[in-house]
Amino acid sequence: MVQTQKDLFIKNIFSTVAPTMDFLNAVFSLGFCHVWRRKAVALSKVQKEDKVLDVCTGTGDLALILMEKMGLEGSFTGIDFCQNMLDLAKIKMKKKGKTMPGEVSFIEGDAKDLGFPDNSFNLVTVAFGIRNIPDTFKALKEIKRVLKPGGRFMCLELTMPTKKWFVPFYKWYTFRVMPIVAKYVVKKMTPFAYLPRSIIAFYPSQEFIQIIGECGFSNVAVHSMTMGVATVFTAQK
Ligand SMILES: C[S@@+](CC[C@H](N)C(=O)[O-])C[C@H]1O[C@@H](n2cnc3c(N)ncnc32)[C@H](O)[C@@H]1O
Repeated sequence: MVQTQKDLFIKNIFSTVAPTMDFLNAVFSLGFCHVWRRKAVALSKVQKEDKVLDVCTGTGDLALILMEKMGLEGSFTGIDFCQNMLDLAKIKMKKKGKTMPGEVSFIEGDAKDLGFPDNSFNLVTVAFGIRNIPDTFKALKEIKRVLKPGGRFMCLELTMPTKKWFVPFYKWYTFRVMPIVAKYVVKKMTPFAYLPRSIIAFYPSQEFIQIIGECGFSNVAVHSMTMGVATVFTAQK
């Protein structure tokens, strides 16, 4: 599919940060990213026999937690548009080497054009990915298309804190502290100037719930974590 300037900008950012992403995620979130992913997987209600698609799978941190809950009768597919992210995910998976679903694949591809037949998956997940996709509606409709009727959608995303008193500290931390730390680790400012801007630009939770509904999902539910800094959205086709 044709990639826009914005797609290429975002792809370039993630290709640059890939080797340091896990470290920076853990440091910047003070370790909370692991807790949020575990909670998100629990809320996804993943079943042993599910056919699961993880969109924006990155280095596979959500993928590995999903796989722990799946059985040999299940299948897992991770998709991301950065090949170097997928390479890291595959290495991590080999190292882990514990129980795995029957079939596992990591595929390079765009969330806006998933390329799978209609009604293919029981569960589609996206963690910390949706706010990076310029056309949210297109991505959500594509996710709905590949879900089987009754299939589940789980989206974990960074969101603005719900506690008003916490917002100034949060902005100071994300706009001032994070880019400085990142500059020394990644040796480039752009990726971590982009991150806080992308969180602020993302929809408030109530609006995102409405958008999920407008894209044809039902039973939309929301679970806010750590003063609203991260939110899990779940829905059904
Ligand atoms: C912050 S990482 C999240 C990775 C992983 N889900 C996790 O829990 O750590 C976001 C990922 O989304 C991917 N991404 C962004 N836009 C995408 C798109 N349009 N199509 C596919 N992948 C995309 C990036 O390459 C990156 O690997």
